[in-house]
Amino acid sequence: MLKSSSLKHLPNFQIGRSTSLSPSLFRSPTSKPFAASRRFHLTPLQSRLVPSKRQHNCLFQRNSLRHTTSLLPSRSLTNPSLTFMRAYTNPNLTIMAAYDPNSLANIAVFRTTHVTLDVALDFKKSAVHGTATLRLLSLSDNDGVTKEVILDSSYVDVQGIEANGETVNGWKLEDRKEPYGSALRIPLKEAVKNGKEVDIKIQFSTTDKCTALQWMEPSQTANKKHPYMFSQCQAIHCRSIFPCQDTPSVKAPITFNIRSPLPVVATGLPAGVSDYDEKTGTIVYHFKQDIPLPSYLIAVAAGDLASASIGPRSMVYTGPEELLKCKTELEEDTEPFMKAAESIVFQYPWTTYNVLILPPSFPYGGMENPNMTFATPTIISGDKSNIDVIAHELAHSWSGNLVTNANWQDFWLNEGWTTYLERRIGAAIHGEPHFDFSAIIGWKALTESVKLYADNPEFTKLVVNLEGKDPDDAFSSIPYEKGFTFIYFLDKLVGREKWNKFIPYYFNKYKTKSLTSQDFKDTVIEFFKDDEAASKAISEKVDWDAWYNNPGLPPKPEFDTSLADVCFKLADSWNELNQVAGGPWKPSADDIKGWSSGQIVVFLERISEWETPLKKELVEKLNVTYSLDKTENAEILSRFLNIGLRARDEKVYEPTAYWLGQWGRMKFVRPLYRLLNECDRELAVKTFQKNIDFYHPICRDIVKKDLKL
Ligand code: BES
Ligand code: ZN
Repeated sequence: MLKSSSLKHLPNFQIGRSTSLSPSLFRSPTSKPFAASRRFHLTPLQSRLVPSKRQHNCLFQRNSLRHTTSLLPSRSLTNPSLTFMRAYTNPNLTIMAAYDPNSLANIAVFRTTHVTLDVALDFKKSAVHGTATLRLLSLSDNDGVTKEVILDSSYVDVQGIEANGETVNGWKLEDRKEPYGSALRIPLKEAVKNGKEVDIKIQFSTTDKCTALQWMEPSQTANKKHPYMFSQCQAIHCRSIFPCQDTPSVKAPITFNIRSPLPVVATGLPAGVSDYDEKTGTIVYHFKQDIPLPSYLIAVAAGDLASASIGPRSMVYTGPEELLKCKTELEEDTEPFMKAAESIVFQYPWTTYNVLILPPSFPYGGMENPNMTFATPTIISGDKSNIDVIAHELAHSWSGNLVTNANWQDFWLNEGWTTYLERRIGAAIHGEPHFDFSAIIGWKALTESVKLYADNPEFTKLVVNLEGKDPDDAFSSIPYEKGFTFIYFLDKLVGREKWNKFIPYYFNKYKTKSLTSQDFKDTVIEFFKDDEAASKAISEKVDWDAWYNNPGLPPKPEFDTSLADVCFKLADSWNELNQVAGGPWKPSADDIKGWSSGQIVVFLERISEWETPLKKELVEKLNVTYSLDKTENAEILSRFLNIGLRARDEKVYEPTAYWLGQWGRMKFVRPLYRLLNECDRELAVKTFQKNIDFYHPICRDIVKKDLKL
């Protein structure tokens, strides 16, 4: 019988792509971001950079057309240093650039070329105080518009601003525009001439409404000795730490100096420590990353951290009590993952690759913060079965971190490519059937997400319209798995040998830049243009518009089901048992002997797919036969709880509620809350309220919406 206590020592873990997501509750669309409605005259420099007419399809153009009166074809800037811009012309040579519907900053007028953060972590007040200095390059020669800098901010307390060392008067935080926050308007004494830079230094503190940071009391940590804090900025939470151009279309090198009483890890390469302060017992930790980064990759964590080597270029950081277990889980595979990724793309460009294993409230499986992947402790399951998450986050070093989606509407470029690379890494290490096995799990997650978004088909498109929307609400398996399916489709269409040549070409072409889905299409067509067979296949067989803009499932690829067949077969036997009791087949522990955790997951997922749920009385039999509640693997346990809840087996309600207080990873928490809510709303709401302080603010907000609280 499943008891809450039997779950107590469950470590953690993760697998699969079944990031299940609920249809979002939409906030009412806000008025359009002003970046979108501004027009600028082309400077001579910019005019030179507009080489040819280019066709823009897809979202970008749709959006831009909504905001422009131009009837002329759009054109694009292609200066390597300005490629984040998408420019559109009108008869007066007016351009519209760098559109991101999820940013309020005037990114078409200024572009950040360097970020310096000098901050202190204040554990007593649960706040970050300090300065952010943004070096901003003027992109326009329209003096009217370059006299004002507009930045994203959300619930930040701004105390003062300097421009080039002089105090700025008259700056203003606009009223909030949900879900994007308050634009910070900074008037400048003089216009910044095109091509010139201005240093904007902002004194700020975070507030208790900050959505990016979770602060934990010592009592909330494993050894209960010290406080802990960590950030999660993707997608648009960086603006709740400091005012910035919070868009993935803008990338800049970063210098990050952090005063803290506890060890700190952060985005970038460590650059030493300095300035010990006896009075406060604090020291300044320095980090630096010269490869330009988008704001969403800025990260920091601090607490009672210890570290151990897990490879020649890699360390794992976590609490001292968990360190050895984490080291053991990761040390065998991290470097082979890196070598495999390097053989597919090209040399790892970030020097070191480290992993921070966070406390259980970390809301994601992993987050690809450069040099320091942040990961949930649920990947440490003792049998290495869930470290595909590390392969995934590592793969982001190329897809996402080096080559970045230009805005969150093109998020599939980050996640679809990364899921593809993750599976290629898995295949290189464990053999080809693992590629297909993982893809089968992914396809299931994709079909689930498409079902969940039945009322909101927009979010089942590969390229989504996020105007007025919160990217967190659009997050689902769709960009991952539809994106994977598309890349895999292209791979199979041109053939592996040719596709293998495209991969490094693509990542090299866009390294340190951001690109749109249109750029991706152009690049595929351009790369294969001299290859008759490949370009014929692409022009005849790739319906770009359908792939990018059709809602719902794409054509299903054929997968090698060799590893999955036994799982499906066992589920079929249980299905018979579910329909006719007393048949000849008897379940036994041997059914799953020698199976990988992934195979158990596939088997359990198959059961939870049935239209007729498993009978209540069989839930306990399933549990006892395969000792499911004894597992250390959260992927397995969450699937089992899911089956129990679908069966309306009251015996799993309390254990589920208990488990929901142990982990804050949204992949598990959201589907279980949704199901528990269907079974017993009172218990679901009570459980959420009891654990509200345990969850990260992002998880808190989304579950609140899921539960309609
Ligand atoms: N970058 C994502 C996490 C993310 C996406 C955070 C969007 C915020 C907004 C990360 O790389 C990721 O995909 N994590 C997955 C794990 C992966 C193995 C599919 C997760 O958290 O489950
Ligand atoms: Zn990812």
